[in-house]
Amino acid sequence: MKTDALKPQVISIINQPGVVIKDKMQAICDLLQSAVATYDWVGFYMAHETEPTLHLWNQAGEPTDHTVIPFGKGICGQVAVSNANFVVDDVHAQDNYIACSIHVKSEVVIPMFKNAKNIGQIDIDSNTVNAFNAEDERFLEWINELVAAEL
Ligand code: SME
Repeated sequence: MKTDALKPQVISIINQPGVVIKDKMQAICDLLQSAVATYDWVGFYMAHETEPTLHLWNQAGEPTDHTVIPFGKGICGQVAVSNANFVVDDVHAQDNYIACSIHVKSEVVIPMFKNAKNIGQIDIDSNTVNAFNAEDERFLEWINELVAAEL
């Protein structure tokens, strides 16, 4: 499977000694974006400690202007509130959507939990319609658990 093959590389990033978690998260973004053909943009948005906003900690792919997203806005903001995975097969069919690039056609956002609290999310955009399935969801949930354990 396209994602299972990457698990050993993700584990070695997480286990690197003397590297801060933010740098490990960046390495995970870079790995996923370069290794999976349909992952065109990969980022971690993390919740502010006190304000209802998400902040872009890391990204691989085209730079985005959307570095701060209020809870409730766009796919990311909705996941901050719903605590549920959000798979968008066709972004053009979404009303509450923030476009980062005209090329994006589908998106997946998976929340990250620490002590049962939604602390952020991994967000992946694809320039291909319908690019994400249950395998992607399980893989990204697994990554989020590894990252959350380090935070
Ligand atoms: N499309 C997202 C915004 C983030 S960009 O994809 C990088 C959304 O609707 O929340």
